Order: sequence, then C-alpha cells, then structure tokens
Amino acid sequence: MKIAVMTGGGDCPGINAAIEAIVTRATEYGYQVFGITDGYAGLLNGGVKPLSLKDVEGISKTGGTILGTSRTNPFKTKDGVKKAMDTIKRFGIDTLITIGGEDTLSAACQFSKQGVPIIAVPKTIDNDLCATDYSIGFQTAVDTAAEAIERLHTTAKSHRRVIIVEIMGRNTGWLTLMAGLAGGAHIILIPEQPFDIDSVCELIKRRRAEGKRHTIIAVAEGAKLKARGELVTAGEEKDEFGHERLGGIAQVLEKEIAKRTGEEARSVVLGHLQRGGPPNSFDTIMGIRLGLFAVDLIKQKKTGYAPCLRGTEIVPVRIEEMTGKLKTIEENLFELTGFFSKS
Ligand code: F6P
Repeated sequence: MKIAVMTGGGDCPGINAAIEAIVTRATEYGYQVFGITDGYAGLLNGGVKPLSLKDVEGISKTGGTILGTSRTNPFKTKDGVKKAMDTIKRFGIDTLITIGGEDTLSAACQFSKQGVPIIAVPKTIDNDLCATDYSIGFQTAVDTAAEAIERLHTTAKSHRRVIIVEIMGRNTGWLTLMAGLAGGAHIILIPEQPFDIDSVCELIKRRRAEGKRHTIIAVAEGAKLKARGELVTAGEEKDEFGHERLGGIAQVLEKEIAKRTGEEARSVVLGHLQRGGPPNSFDTIMGIRLGLFAVDLIKQKKTGYAPCLRGTEIVPVRIEEMTGKLKTIEENLFELTGFFSKS
C-alpha cells in the first residue's frame, strides 16, 4: 500500500503532529508514505518525495507544515485534474490524505467523486468546518490572540486609550469570540452579528463616564457594519478559490471611534502571528489523534471520509458533509460578545 499526504490552504500549528502520526501509523502497517510538497501545486507538478520515520521524528511540536502549502486550486488550473491524476498514477499512490480547510476539502471531495481514494483531515484556525467540533490549529490561535489581547490591556489602560484588535477567521467569528473572551475584550464584534457603530461608541462613552480608563475591542476581520453591510477588504485580488483578502476593519473603526467619541484610539492587526509558532497541547494531541485515525480508516478501506472530533470522540464523517456550508456562531452564543462590556 502506498499513501501520500499533503497540506493545503493556510498553514497552522498542529499540522506537523498529524504528519508525524500518519507516517508513524503507516510505517507500523507496512505502508510506504510519500509527502506532496506545497499543497495541490505539488500534486500537479509531481512534487512528491518519500517520507520516512526519520523525516518526521520530533516534528509534532513544531509550527507550520514540513511539506509546505499553497492555495492552488487544481480545478481552476489548466489540465489540473489530468495533471493530478498523472502524478497519482506515476507514483502508484493508492490513497491520498489531504490536511486542509474548506477549500482543500472541497477539492478533495471532487477528487473523491472522480474515484480517487481520499481521506481528509480538518485543520483551520477559523474553526469554520462543519461536522467537527474543533479543527487542528484553532485552539493554538485562540491562545495566541488571547495573549495579545491581554498585553494590549496594560498599554491601553496606561494611556487611557481605545484599542481595536483585528483577528482572523474569514467569514466566521469563532477565533474572535473565543480569543476575545479569553483575553477579556470589552467589546467583541463578529461577522454573524453585524454591528452598529453608534452603539459601539455609546458603550465606549459610557465606560468613560463610569471612570473606566480603557476599552479593548476585538473585531473579526470579516465583521460587518450594519449600515454598510459589506466586508472591508485589503485589496481587490482574490485567491484561486475566489476569496478576497479580508483586512482593514480595525483601521476603519479606529478613525470612526476617534472622530465620534473624541477618544484616543489605536488599531492592531494580529495577522499571521495567529498562524505561526508551535501548537499548544490541545492541537498537538488533536493532530496526533486525527493523523492516527486517518491511517486506520485506510486500513479499514474506508476512504471518502474525514476524522472529526465530536465531544471527546473521533468519528468518521463523509467528506461531502463537511463542504458547501460553514459552521457559524449561533445566536445562543451571541451574549458572550458582551460579557466584559461592564467590567
Ligand atoms: O483560513 C485561514 C486564514 O488565516 C484566514 O483566517 C485568513 O483570512 C486567511 O487565512 C489569510 O490567508 P493568507 O495567508 O493567504 O493571507
């Protein structure tokens, strides 16, 4: 049995733990393992190399992906499917394991429908994949962003400022809500709950009237102003999966808040700091468990599935159940966005 593993989309902490687990379990079963470099780009251009236990020894606590990644969409590349199929045939790959988020999994789903035996492993700091409670990378990003928010409290308080911190997450607010809560942000703005700038400014003024020295606002990069209803983007360009680069809402808020409240305001964009660095224990363990389960599924000849976390159990879920719709924050969690507004 020959298996190949690749990582697609944005990197995140915990991927290498999954790779180490995949190679370890596959070696135990006597399978030969290949690594595909730079996401689907490697599948198209023959970027394939053998992966041994020696290659993955000790990588589980390291950040990023040792295989490299890209946002290449094989279904948007000329002759992409043919090129991918050629590579699979040339190296005699029996099953492909793709570690990725929504885009990578959608492409995996299409390959699976075309007869390629595939297992998909969910990873994304956005935590927006449905059918799994958590995706690899999310909890580490929450820790990183929460620590940044904690640090912003002390400088904001010293200077009597409003600090607006912009957090990744694309079209869902999981990272902003959980990091905002863990870091004690007074106002949390998420895409699922379009906000009104007047109410935000009222809250800031009320806090000042109550003698509070500072306000921290955690804003998701995909949060929308009720009045404008549209996303703030960093530019015109879109990636191969059709996503625009989000970013800039913190700066928009900085100007508006300063103008409307007379407060000194500053914006901070956490950006790719949220994806870098080693995984926390949760993501290391998630990576290892999902990686082992992925190879066990191959042993059981159960391809077309993704190992997902439900409660404390890892369960197999059909890949198509994980694509086409995002896991968004339901209204019952909205009250958490205001938890620290009075403190
Ligand atoms: O999907 C993960 C993510 O980090 C999003 O939160 C963010 O919008 C996007 O990737 C950034 O992508 P890139 O690294 O291509 O700029």
